[in-house]
Amino acid sequence: MRKIMVAGNWKMHGSMSMVETLLGGVIDGLDDTMPVDVAVFPPAPYLPQVQAMANGSRVAWGGQTLNPNEQGAYTGEVSGAMLVDFGCRYVLVGHSERRTLFGESDADVAERFEAAQRDGLVPVLCIGETQAQREAGETEAVVAAQIDAVLDRCGIAAFDQALVAYEPVWAIGTGLTATPEQAQDVHAFIRDKLSALDGRIGGQIRILYGGSVKSSNAADLFARDDIDGALVGGASLTAGDFLGICRGA
Ligand code: G3P
Repeated sequence: MRKIMVAGNWKMHGSMSMVETLLGGVIDGLDDTMPVDVAVFPPAPYLPQVQAMANGSRVAWGGQTLNPNEQGAYTGEVSGAMLVDFGCRYVLVGHSERRTLFGESDADVAERFEAAQRDGLVPVLCIGETQAQREAGETEAVVAAQIDAVLDRCGIAAFDQALVAYEPVWAIGTGLTATPEQAQDVHAFIRDKLSALDGRIGGQIRILYGGSVKSSNAADLFARDDIDGALVGGASLTAGDFLGICRGA
C-alpha cells in the first residue's frame, strides 16, 4: 500500500515572514484525518528557517535542485551535501523549469539524480511532455526517454529510493489540469515501465502528479490507482489551499 505524498514546490516565492505564516499554518493544520506524507521545497536561503520550524513535525523538506559536483568553483550553486546539512530528505531533479529555463538535458538530470543518492538524498525525478509533444502523440516516448536517461546511468535499483513526479508541462501554472484519466494513463505507463524491470520496485514507487493541483481536484486524482500524491506549485503557497489538498487524501 503506497502512502499518499503531498509536496509543495514553493519555486522562487517567499520571504521570512511568508515562511513563518505558511509553514506554521501547515504544521498546525495537519491532523489525523490527513493520512499523508508531507514535504515542502523552499528556496535554498529559507532552508535553515524551515529546518528550525519543521524539525520534529510531520513535514519533511528538500531542495529544488542540486549541483552534481561535491564542491568547487560553481558560483551560485548548491551541493547535495549542503542540502543534507540543513536536514533535507528530498531533492527535486529535472523540474521542467530547470529543463527549459536552465537548459538541463535528460543526461544532466540523470547526473543530478545519481549525485542526490550519493549525497544521501531521495531524488524526486520530475518528467513530463509539452503541449506540442502531447498533441503529436509523443507523451509516452518523451517520458520514457526521460526515465531511460536515469535508468541508463543509475539502473533500476536506484528507483528503490526515489519518487517520480509526472508534471505535464502544459498543466504547470496554467490552470489546465490533466484529467484524472489522462494522468492515470501516464502514471500507469511509468509504473509498467519500471515494473517490467523490477516488479517490486515498480509496485512500491510513489508517482506524484503535478500541474495545477488544487483542493477541488486533488481527491479525484488521488482516487486513481497509480496516482500516489501531488507535487503542488501555486496552491502550496497558502496553508489553507495546501491543507485542502492534503484533505483530498
Ligand atoms: O512542481 C510543481 C509544479 O510545477 C506545478 O505547479 O502551480 O501548476 O501547481 P502548479
